Formats: sequence, C-alpha cells, structure tokens
Amino acid sequence: MYDILEIRKDFPVLDDVIYLDSAATTQTPVQVVSAVNNYFYKYAGNYGRGAHRLARETTNHYEDSRENVARFMNVDPSKTIMTKNATESINMVALGINWNLGDHIVTTSLEHHTDLLPWMRLKEKGVDMTVVPPDENGIINPDEIASSITDGTRLVAVTHVSNVFGSVQDIGEITRITHKAGVMVLIDGAQSLGHIPVDVGSIGCDFFAASGHKGLLGPQGTGLLYVREPEIMEPSYFGGGMVHSVTTTGFELEPCPTKFESGTPNMPGVIGLGRGVEYVQNVGVANIEKHEKSLVKNTASRLAEIPYVEVYGPDDRCGVVSFNITGLNSHDVAMILDETSSVCVRSGYHCAMPALQSIGVEGTVRASVGLYNTQEEIDTFIDAVSQITSLVG
Ligand code: ALA
Repeated sequence: MYDILEIRKDFPVLDDVIYLDSAATTQTPVQVVSAVNNYFYKYAGNYGRGAHRLARETTNHYEDSRENVARFMNVDPSKTIMTKNATESINMVALGINWNLGDHIVTTSLEHHTDLLPWMRLKEKGVDMTVVPPDENGIINPDEIASSITDGTRLVAVTHVSNVFGSVQDIGEITRITHKAGVMVLIDGAQSLGHIPVDVGSIGCDFFAASGHKGLLGPQGTGLLYVREPEIMEPSYFGGGMVHSVTTTGFELEPCPTKFESGTPNMPGVIGLGRGVEYVQNVGVANIEKHEKSLVKNTASRLAEIPYVEVYGPDDRCGVVSFNITGLNSHDVAMILDETSSVCVRSGYHCAMPALQSIGVEGTVRASVGLYNTQEEIDTFIDAVSQITSLVG
C-alpha cells in the first residue's frame, strides 16, 4: 500500500509549505541526509585515493551508490559516470565527441536549454542542427525525427519528459528509428528517472543523462551519464584520479567511468544519491508513477474548469501541470500563491524558452508534484488559484 503519511514523515519541510516545485528540485528524505551526515561524521576520506580505512570506506560507499544508480536504470555500472548534474552530463557528450565539419544533430524545441545550448555551440565547429517542433500538447512525432535525419546526422537528442508540459516522449520508438538510420541517441531523463519506470538498458539509447536531485531524491550537485559505448567520447577534464600512468611526456587513462571523473568527486552527494535511489526502490517507482499521475491528472482537469485559466499539455502527463491565468503575469501568480496559501510553484520560462514559444507564451505557472504530495494539498492549491482568478473576473 502507498502509505503517504509514512512517506511524509521523511520530509519534515512539508509541514510548513505545500511544495509543488519538485520538477525544479525535490525535497530530500531524512534517510538521504543521514547518509550524507554519516559520510562527514563517520568515515570521510577521498575517493579512490589512499590505502587507509577512511579512503577505502568512502570508495566502497561511492561505488555502491554507482551500482545502485546503474542497476536502477538496468545498465552496466562501469558505463555509468557520476556528474554534478544533467547539464554537465550533456556537455560532456557535446565536448567529448570528435565532431567533423558537416556533422548534423537533430533535437526538438521542447528541450530544456541544457539539451539545446551544448549542441548550438557546436555550430562553431561546423555542426548543423535541426530542431523538430512538438504538437500543441508537447508531443514529438517520432516520424518527424526520422524525416529530419540526413546523411550527416550523428546524434538525435531528445528529452524524455518535458519540464514544461509533462508530456512523455516515446523514447523507445525514437531510439529504434534513429538506430535504424545508424545514428546515436541521447535521452535527457532529468524529469523522468524516479518518476516513471525507465529501463535504459532495454531502450538501448547511446547516452542517458539525468540529475540526482529530482526523481532520485539525491542531494543537489549530483547527476549521472550512462554511455553505451564509452570509446565514442574523450574526457572533457583532465587531472588527478583518472590516469593509469603518467610520465613527463604522456599519460595512459583509466577505463570508463574513472577516466571521466577526474578530480575529487562529490563523495557525500553521490553517497546520498545512492540512498535516494534505495528510497525510490523501496516505495516502488511504479507506485510513485501511479500516485503522481493521478495527482497531476486531477490538478489539470480541475484547473481547466476554472474560468480564465488555460492549461497546457496532454491529458496523460508526468509530474507537471503548466497553466496561465488570463491577464496575470506568471511570477505574480506564483508570489500570490506563496503569500496567501504557502504554495510553492515555479513560474516563468522554466529554462525552456523555445518550448514556450511553441505555444506562443512567454511564461507559465508550473505546479509539479513529488511522491509526497497529497490530494488535500492539491485541493488547497486549486482553491487558491480560484481565489486569484476572482481578481481578473
Ligand atoms: N530544470 C529544472 C526545472 O525545470 C530546474 O525547473
């Protein structure tokens, strides 16, 4: 049984606010904070550096976390790189592939800027880009991806779940048709992993990037990158911890993932992330999906019934509901919701300006849920929005 009251005990901040901004960052359960505290208070040492007990214990916990994260996605831990966020993960791919003049990338106008700017920047290397638009509900037609692939295309980069619309893309089909054309696929899973079941291994994409501080309930400053064939990429950063041997004239790198994790990594963060993944597994990601989908479905349909409210996105959505109130700026609505009802939502363009341009608005109010939100909280939120609309009526 989904015991929401038990879950909420693990997130003390929820006593003070109605937190509907989990797409920006989720709240962190006490178990994750304890894991981070334990690192600092009981065994802090450096990862992979040192024969003493603290260094060994840190390394073991860090590797256990990597294993948890990789198994959760059904991929090989040795191909799972720990990063500081999804942005770093995607930039590592953009910087790490040996691009040639005339190469081409297909992406979509739904993307978070993090899955757009790194590819745009490659223009200076002569890499062109085609941006496929979504339909009015934020859904990408896989056939449009297929018809955008040219002889020069090397990569298709697509978000799994839109952070603006909550629309879920058919990444299995997108990967299948892209691979049929002999092209690599990168999936931005920042808004899907931990919210809905994602079997990265079975999907077979070439790269899967995600943040650790969203659906996986890890600390901020954590992320991951799965790479199916690590040889395709060079590391972006060079330094300690990544090399097998060094002389004054050269060096030999360690294999993946070590060669992509130079410098002292975020040990407490990664260890906390491993605990976050365990938390999600204990609740069950299919249970989380069911709970969150029912909350957002209910939120969207009730918002749509309120006069002067326009809701964006498909009926079947993951995690987020974007909307506007006629005549009101989204930031003003968010401020009023906080001041009148302690409801925390995000407003503005959500780091996805082209996605908003696709529906002809500059910003939206975005309510996004986590595994800990209740129907009562949604009721309070809906009442608060209704009250605000009386200002425009
Ligand atoms: N990408 C995060 C969001 O959508 C920060 O809010």
